Amino acid sequence: MIKGKTLLPIVQGGMGVGISAHRLAGNVAQAGGVGTISSVDLRRHHADLMAETGKSRDKALIDRANLVALDREIKAAKGIAAGAGVVAVNIMRAVSEYANYVRQACASGADAVVCGAGLPLDLPELTAEHPDVAIIPILSDVRGISLILKKWMRKNRLPDAIVIENPKYAAGHLGAARPEDVNDPHFAFPTVLEGTRELLRQLDLEKENIPLIAAGGVHSHEQVKELMALGANAVQLGTPFAVTEEGDAHVNFKRVLVDAKPEDIVTFMSVAGLPARAVKTTWLANYLDKEEKMQRRAKPQQCTVGFDCLHQCGLRDGIPKSGQFCIDTQLAFAMNGDVKRGLFFRGSEPLPFGNEIRSVRDLIDYLLTGRRPAANKLDAGTLPQPA
Ligand SMILES: Cc1cc2nc3c(=O)[nH]c(=O)nc-3n(C[C@H](O)[C@H](O)[C@H](O)COP(=O)(O)O)c2cc1C
Repeated sequence: MIKGKTLLPIVQGGMGVGISAHRLAGNVAQAGGVGTISSVDLRRHHADLMAETGKSRDKALIDRANLVALDREIKAAKGIAAGAGVVAVNIMRAVSEYANYVRQACASGADAVVCGAGLPLDLPELTAEHPDVAIIPILSDVRGISLILKKWMRKNRLPDAIVIENPKYAAGHLGAARPEDVNDPHFAFPTVLEGTRELLRQLDLEKENIPLIAAGGVHSHEQVKELMALGANAVQLGTPFAVTEEGDAHVNFKRVLVDAKPEDIVTFMSVAGLPARAVKTTWLANYLDKEEKMQRRAKPQQCTVGFDCLHQCGLRDGIPKSGQFCIDTQLAFAMNGDVKRGLFFRGSEPLPFGNEIRSVRDLIDYLLTGRRPAANKLDAGTLPQPA
């Protein structure tokens, strides 16, 4: 239940650049779940905006185009959802235009704003004029959850849900300090779910019924049941939704993710100063070979694309312990299906339908019922309805 609306306990996580835009988020919401648009650099889905800005190094122009794109994507997703579910917008705290993306998401009619990759301490103020917009932090351990709860309580605001993302399994940027920390037992679902319930008791917030959403590595109906038994109210999935028919990326993107073997999936340092998990494709393998040398030579320079997308960028700011590549360029290659040059974020676990690309409805149906549809033949009427 979010803002009084009863939903299926399935959340599609935000995926940038352009992997979860209006089509994926709109279809998940239409099915009765939470569909999340990633706000990062959405102009890449709009030919007219790319014609204006594709070769530009004018940050203000690019930022404006991205706000126009975000507005269009939210409205298109809400159109597909037709009043069902929740259309959320994911905004990474680490992104330089974070505050403007939050304001635009609210102004354009998003039902929820979901923030990770840093602590969104100021989210209550940024959304104060839009009390109907749900605000949802993404955190990975009890310490982070405690910090956000206490800070927000001082501002008389509570999260409308909390995403608990386990860095051991999740895709993209991970909520641990270093790649070697991602398996730390303090991130384990039982520990964080139990610890959070205890924290909510201590803070006298039990009666607020803040939904806890477990994210990372969910790929079977059994896991959904187990996580709910551990105290989760819903599950969030990224990789399995990225590879659905409705996923907004090029089909080559989906094929790289579904065809990846366990040994192809690696964890490394991103330019955002956080570890990240992705498929070791040609570009990533070459980059990792050169990483140490590049880190030794790191020194501050101008943003290579004039976009300054991150508050702090390992490449631009010459931070030796961070990644040394342009994340926006590499992620955009992946979204467009450039198998050689792209950076393909992916979680560590197998996929519910192996290497098959299925519909959003098939995936949600399987997660909720355990029925593996033989083909994409289920119609909408077979979906369980929210209680
Ligand atoms: C391609 C891809 C891009 C992602 N980008 C983002 C992002 O921009 N912001 C974010 O908060 N999470 C991002 N994630 C994480 C997902 O929202 C989700 O929480 C995570 O993938 C869950 O783990 P799973 O992939 O094992 O299901 C991304 C995941 C994938 C697969």
